[in-house]
Amino acid sequence: MGSDSALINGVESDATEDIEPFNSDWMRKYRGHTQLVLKPESTEQVSEILKYCNEHTLAVVPQGGNTGLVGGSVPVFDEIVLSLARMNRIRSFDEVSGVLVADAGVILEVADQYLAERRYIFPLDLGAKGSCHIGGNVATNAGGLRLLRYGSLHGNVLGLEAVLPDGTIVDDLSKLRKNNTGYDLKQLFIGGEGTIGVITGISIVCPQRSNAVNVAYFALESYEKVQQAFVEAKKQLGEILSAFELMDNASQRLLHQASGRKLPLGGDHPFYCLIETSGSNTEHDSEKLQNFLEYVMGEEIVLDGVLAENQTQIKELWSCREGVPEHLPHWGGVYKYDLSIPIAELYDLVEATRERLGHLIGDTDEHPVVDAVGYGHMGDSNLHLNVATRGYNKEVEKILEPWVYEWVSKRNGSISAEHGLGVAKKAYIGYSRSETMVKLMKQIKDLYDPVSIDEMWTCERMC
Ligand code: MLT
Ligand code: ZN
Repeated sequence: MGSDSALINGVESDATEDIEPFNSDWMRKYRGHTQLVLKPESTEQVSEILKYCNEHTLAVVPQGGNTGLVGGSVPVFDEIVLSLARMNRIRSFDEVSGVLVADAGVILEVADQYLAERRYIFPLDLGAKGSCHIGGNVATNAGGLRLLRYGSLHGNVLGLEAVLPDGTIVDDLSKLRKNNTGYDLKQLFIGGEGTIGVITGISIVCPQRSNAVNVAYFALESYEKVQQAFVEAKKQLGEILSAFELMDNASQRLLHQASGRKLPLGGDHPFYCLIETSGSNTEHDSEKLQNFLEYVMGEEIVLDGVLAENQTQIKELWSCREGVPEHLPHWGGVYKYDLSIPIAELYDLVEATRERLGHLIGDTDEHPVVDAVGYGHMGDSNLHLNVATRGYNKEVEKILEPWVYEWVSKRNGSISAEHGLGVAKKAYIGYSRSETMVKLMKQIKDLYDPVSIDEMWTCERMC
């Protein structure tokens, strides 16, 4: 870090202008004023830091790659930032079982590259893979692009090492797939967002990397047809289907406007989908995908489609999906909602949002809203509703919140499918969880973290 960085009891710390990136998220939406970033390089150092902070009631916020979308990894006041960046070692890998044990601060893409050299794959992939940390992925229970195929981290993570607020090291780095001896406590840390302890290491079972990956991108005229295409894809592609992603017209149009990227099928169709298959036989799999595309086009479910013919084209097609979140803040702000909604009603919310925003949406600077956009993991019933704005705007925010959460709650959905609560949604948990469930969560929090020094810190901050 910067020239004023110093070692405090062997832990690197920093108090220079380099501290700025730790105080804010990449969307520039959440901002704090930390004066101190600590970068331990061992679990023991994390333990000493937390013990000290706990004894002196100093608030701490753990930070991985700082790619979160709900303000969960940045300070909101002047909390000490505990960066896991220097804990970046692969500890072990078993080439027979596929079990990887690694530090929490390993970057997801680095872990996946390590596994690729051994013909394995990390069972999670997401757009931020070049910066996010695997520990942060587990702490937020990240879902990503291939949950449809590899399942959730609740299933793939076999063990954890974590440090509790009082400095106790929880050594549960099991490599066992089966272990029915009492409560499975690691599940509390997966998706716990650092509220009951800081994850310092993980053990995870990784599948074999597929020999054959094929990708198709196609256009459809209605959400009804998108649902039909999804059912057909499951029927015809079965076990080789590894992703089914949805992008609406606005998502592709804004991607094109912000990035200048040429779209494979032009930008005029109401909906686009991206399908990926991962199997063991290139010829056989690409024939299957081709047959699927011919069938859905013949049945007029799909209007037009394209199949990637090589690695470069695969990347290009994926960039039409992965590039969307990256480019939506282009106009100055973006309100992001990550929702689980029963699949039949999933897209209704985007239409209802546009209607609600009405005259605020438009092409000129007088309009605070650029557009409401829908994309996401159709295969998991997970919609990303994003409202691109010309800067963060309280008037727009008030129109959207809590209205979006009420809308989702009425349909028994979830106000956070995969991004977590963070500071953005902490106050709205009641829209997805009953009073009893919230009470149980608070009891768990109090048990692991009795030193709750401020209500603001009780849920998100004080580890
Ligand atoms: C995605 O699916 O692209 C990620 O969850 C990020 C986002 O929604 O912005
Ligand atoms: Zn997502």
